[in-house]
Amino acid sequence: MNTTELEATVRAMIARGKGLLAADESSGTIKKRFDSIGLESTEANRRDYRQMLFTTEGLEQAISGVILYDETIRQRTDDGRTLVSILQAKGIVPGIKVDKGTVPMAPGSAEKVTEGLDGLAKRYEEYYQLGARFAKWRAVYSITDQLPSWRNIRLNAQGLARYAAITQQSGLVPIVEPEVLMDGAHTIERCFEVTEAVQHAVFDALVAEGVVLELMVLKPNMVISGKDCPVQASAQQVAEATVRCFRRTVPAAVPGIMFLSGGQGDVQATENLNAINAMGVQHPWVFSFSYGRALQAPALKAWGGKKENVAAGQRALLKRARLNSAACRGEYRPEMEQAA
Ligand code: 13P
Repeated sequence: MNTTELEATVRAMIARGKGLLAADESSGTIKKRFDSIGLESTEANRRDYRQMLFTTEGLEQAISGVILYDETIRQRTDDGRTLVSILQAKGIVPGIKVDKGTVPMAPGSAEKVTEGLDGLAKRYEEYYQLGARFAKWRAVYSITDQLPSWRNIRLNAQGLARYAAITQQSGLVPIVEPEVLMDGAHTIERCFEVTEAVQHAVFDALVAEGVVLELMVLKPNMVISGKDCPVQASAQQVAEATVRCFRRTVPAAVPGIMFLSGGQGDVQATENLNAINAMGVQHPWVFSFSYGRALQAPALKAWGGKKENVAAGQRALLKRARLNSAACRGEYRPEMEQAA
């Protein structure tokens, strides 16, 4: 294992005041996003959209890395440069989503397991050549009164751990993403309970698989109320519950915890991250962001699929990236929404 290179990649990813842009939507997911602006999901439109995002001037001040999808890591701009080279020229580290999505754990099961381990080491040879220096694998857990089951928690933890080990052996930094979904009417306390159980199982499996904890990044959900819960926890409550949960479960050797947004509103995701970093407590980890929707939603809307709106889309992206950068330092203020 090339520890020096992995170490340098981790340091770049968690650089102070920076986070990741998750732009690794699969073809199915990006179609849903494009549907919201009435745009057809063609290869050219997907390329134009990602080109718009990546060529944003100044993006590197707030974004340390971008997670790409298999199609995107091979695409070129309209003037022939690879999208990867645009990022590299800004000093932004390219990464790649390598899981192949989820399938039911058993026929008819509501629970999901993630696929994509077969041939993974071989796939990394090409991804590394194409410029990827980190990778992402996502497991999902739904909350009900009974779920997730222990079996589901264990299976997903094993998948994440095996993936993380292969990733490090292949010279890339693994982002380990166990996502406890916000869907449902559950309370923040229930989210705490499930997230705690999930993280315990994930780290148990990572250690058993020999994953070097210093050379990975965790991408978890925040501990938060279900979307349909009648009582919505405040940013302060989310911050306290989230930090308490990770202090119980995440070894101090892990350098960075970079949250997913998971359906939080864009401003809400910034406020919650800010509250976590403004607690005035020393933590062993960098708390930062790896947002998809919370960074992209305003940019997608401002762009609307139109060439003449590229600059507006980029302004919207840069605004959210900068405000999240401020949140990484605990320096975000609501007034900054207008000022930006
Ligand atoms: P969201 O921030 O939209 O949840 O996306 C992050 C991600 O990468 C999900 O896998």
